[in-house]
Amino acid sequence: MQLPSQRVISFTPDMQICRLLNGMWQVSGGHGRIDPEAAVAEMIAYHDAGFTTWDLADHYGPAEDFIGAFRRQLRERRGEDALAGVQAFTKWVPRSGPMTREVVENNIGISLRRMDVDTLDLLQFHWWEYDDNRYLDALTHMADLQTEGKIRYLALTNFDTEHLRRILDHGIQVVSNQVQYSLIDRRPEVTMAPLCQERGIHLLTYGTFGGGLLSEAYLGQDEPRGGALPTVSLRKYKQMVDAWGGWALFQRLLATLKEIADKHQVSIANVAVRAILDRPAVAGVIVGTRLGLAEHRADNARVFTFSLDDEDRTRLDAVSEASRDLYRAIGDCGDEYRR
Ligand SMILES: NC(=O)c1ccc[n+]([C@@H]2O[C@H](COP(=O)([O-])OP(=O)(O)OC[C@H]3O[C@@H](n4cnc5c(N)ncnc54)[C@H](OP(=O)(O)O)[C@@H]3O)[C@@H](O)[C@H]2O)c1
Repeated sequence: MQLPSQRVISFTPDMQICRLLNGMWQVSGGHGRIDPEAAVAEMIAYHDAGFTTWDLADHYGPAEDFIGAFRRQLRERRGEDALAGVQAFTKWVPRSGPMTREVVENNIGISLRRMDVDTLDLLQFHWWEYDDNRYLDALTHMADLQTEGKIRYLALTNFDTEHLRRILDHGIQVVSNQVQYSLIDRRPEVTMAPLCQERGIHLLTYGTFGGGLLSEAYLGQDEPRGGALPTVSLRKYKQMVDAWGGWALFQRLLATLKEIADKHQVSIANVAVRAILDRPAVAGVIVGTRLGLAEHRADNARVFTFSLDDEDRTRLDAVSEASRDLYRAIGDCGDEYRR
């Protein structure tokens, strides 16, 4: 299986990425037992199929080490040049505290060593407390490290619109913000996507599959109770479904998705992902990958083979209109992490 050319987007003037990124939170526990050797072998299979872009974080268990091992295997098998085709986007999620040059440089140094790179392709920064302005100190030091070649591009994750604007107005050049965005959680459409469009910032999205809820597996099923859902991710997004409108409305969404999917001869997940990939400012959708345990490469490749039409979009909007307003209920992007 090879992905079509529409899979790539110019993320920056000198970096193309696959619009479906391989998400590595799933290797950090709570998603089944991941075998490191099998996981790294599987990373080669993703890469060979054209899924060349990875999303990870300093706190996703062994994810950064897996990138290091994967890069060494790729170099051994295909030579040094093959590494230029890999994009590995990590995150730095520090606890609040002094953000001196030393603190920032030491933490970036750990990621560089673990991932076995001289330069981080993209460093996505998370901050827990907006009242604590030291996020601006951290970003200023990161910008210096970027100038010195340790970081290729700066980015954010889970920042709201107001603080993204503040950072941009402070003169810090970030290229993207990573946020939850799906047919369940459309909060980015309220203020985030318009600002991103205005300022040329990309969105990278997660939760777009609802942890797997947005698939045939849950169509027509009774509501799963308690611990019945097998992964942390499924449980996380089941809570979003509850806040959004509950299981009956979710079944209406799945049934609508299934009809649209049948019309285009694709899967429910394909339609759910295509709908978000087509939204303004969205550069890519991150797909949680349980490396060595489950994979959906062939199905997900079909996202690049069809288009939604106006009728499809109207039908999906009609379901959204029957849901609760999550922007009012939860707040802007990332506010769920700061309550
Ligand atoms: N910045 C943040 O705060 C943040 C938060 C969460 C996630 N993330 C990032 O986003 C990534 C995405 O993870 P997520 O937790 O949001 O999960 P997700 O991507 O919404 O769901 C992933 C799950 O969807 C299922 N799936 C994938 N393709 C499918 C297909 N074609 N058909 C049916 N099911 C399919 C798989 O389930 P099975 O494996 O069970 O088959 C997979 O584990 C993470 O790995 C991480 O990189 C970032």
